[in-house]
Amino acid sequence: MSAPVAASTYSKDNPFPARITENRLLNKPGSAKETRHFIVSLKGSDLSYKAGDSLGVYPTNRASEVNEILSRLGATGEELVSPAMLKLPAPITLREALGQRLALGGPTSKIISTLAAKATDAGEKAKLDALLVPEAKEQLTAFLDEREYVDLLAEFPSAKLTGQELVDHMRKLMPRLYSIASSSKLYPHEIHLTVAVVRYTTNQRERHGVCSTFMADRVAVGETPTPVFVSNSHFGPPENGATDCIMVGPGTGIAPFRAFVQDRVASGATGRNWLFFGDQKQATDYLYQEEWEKYLADGKLARLDLAWSRDQGAKVYVQDKMRASAKELWTWIQGGAGFFVCGDAKRMAKDVDQALHDIIAEQGGMSAEEAQAYVKQMKKDKRYQRDVY
Ligand SMILES: Cc1cc2nc3c(=O)[nH]c(=O)nc-3n(C[C@H](O)[C@H](O)[C@H](O)COP(=O)(O)OP(=O)(O)OC[C@H]3O[C@@H](n4cnc5c(N)ncnc54)[C@H](O)[C@@H]3O)c2cc1C
Ligand SMILES: NC(=O)c1ccc[n+]([C@@H]2O[C@H](COP(=O)([O-])OP(=O)(O)OC[C@H]3O[C@@H](n4cnc5c(N)ncnc54)[C@H](OP(=O)(O)O)[C@@H]3O)[C@@H](O)[C@H]2O)c1
Repeated sequence: MSAPVAASTYSKDNPFPARITENRLLNKPGSAKETRHFIVSLKGSDLSYKAGDSLGVYPTNRASEVNEILSRLGATGEELVSPAMLKLPAPITLREALGQRLALGGPTSKIISTLAAKATDAGEKAKLDALLVPEAKEQLTAFLDEREYVDLLAEFPSAKLTGQELVDHMRKLMPRLYSIASSSKLYPHEIHLTVAVVRYTTNQRERHGVCSTFMADRVAVGETPTPVFVSNSHFGPPENGATDCIMVGPGTGIAPFRAFVQDRVASGATGRNWLFFGDQKQATDYLYQEEWEKYLADGKLARLDLAWSRDQGAKVYVQDKMRASAKELWTWIQGGAGFFVCGDAKRMAKDVDQALHDIIAEQGGMSAEEAQAYVKQMKKDKRYQRDVY
């Protein structure tokens, strides 16, 4: 919410080829998670950022997956193609299209129709046709959810596709956004990120989240040019440094709040800071532990509430910690504090929102409707902001 920064020559359409100068695992041995701290150097660019902004990163695909697709197509990669989705002025090589320009995951039903039309093996054709009948809609969705394009080429080898036919089905490879975890007041020439590396298995194949594993595995530290841009956001710490700031950020949701606290400490903000953080296990998943403990010891964090979901039988989440301190939370809110949430949109942000409503209703002696109106006004006043994904 601070003053907008001057426009850079670099943008989403003209990203800056940055170097990643640090790639550090934040979880301790024995953790079920892989959360990494990256430092992206802005040296050589005129990029600037403010707390609350995100960094856009353009990844490339894994060479092994590209090679497997080429081999299943019987192609060398040197063939020229013009992928429909890219609307290019001139053709590019199939290798470039698959490696850098197109998403190798997220196949749609259209490819199933194409494969069905091309399959020469009766068994393959029957399986494809069965997925295309209207009654099999749910089955088709589940089938596609479990597969990437390479799976389909492997499963239906009799349906010979050309490189051009395959790439015409694929979507554009999009940049990914990451909440910036540093303040430019402390780090004007670099951007810190807190990234959960996505790895899972479907259809008996190991999957690798494109961008998180690009940064984790495929970028050589200090070497690989990594195209980035700053995505300005309305999300940000209170404009008035005297305003108290309540931050709820479990998991990678912690990222922008590291930036908020750095920023407020650097600017001498007098408002208090209250952080709710949570993750699976305290011993292995306490991200930036030393930093929070130092802020707490120095009085820069007024309160730190931690929710470890897997340290005991029953789950404990950030919203449980909010409810346990409902009275004080309400006192802060009544006193004008801002309430900020970052992290998982599907479950966490909804549950935290519910907890906020319940606390306001209970502590403020309001009906559910009154609490709803109160929260609505907080949003209008930009006192309740979310950066959820
Ligand atoms: C504003 C904003 C800020 C963000 N900030 C951060 C941040 O600070 N840190 C951070 O880590 N991320 C952040 N994200 C998310 C980030 O942009 C990416 O979406 C994330 O890193 C995954 O991208 P990927 O390319 O690695 O994975 P992708 O290749 O995009 O794969 C992710 C997809 O894989 C599938 N998937 C994932 N896990 C499983 C599973 N277990 N089983 C089956 N399918 C699964 C899901 O369909 C999921 O959508 C943010 C997103 C937004 C919009
Ligand atoms: N939209 C999405 O699909 C989405 C969004 C965010 C993250 N993720 C995935 O999750 C992985 C890790 O992400 P992350 O590090 O940011 O952590 P996370 O998975 O969001 O988990 C952080 C903490 O939040 C807890 N949690 C789970 N459900 C919750 C709820 N309803 N309310 C409050 N807290 C809740 C988790 O507990 P338990 O796990 O023990 O229940 C854990 O302690 C990544 O691989 C990412 O792909 C997916």
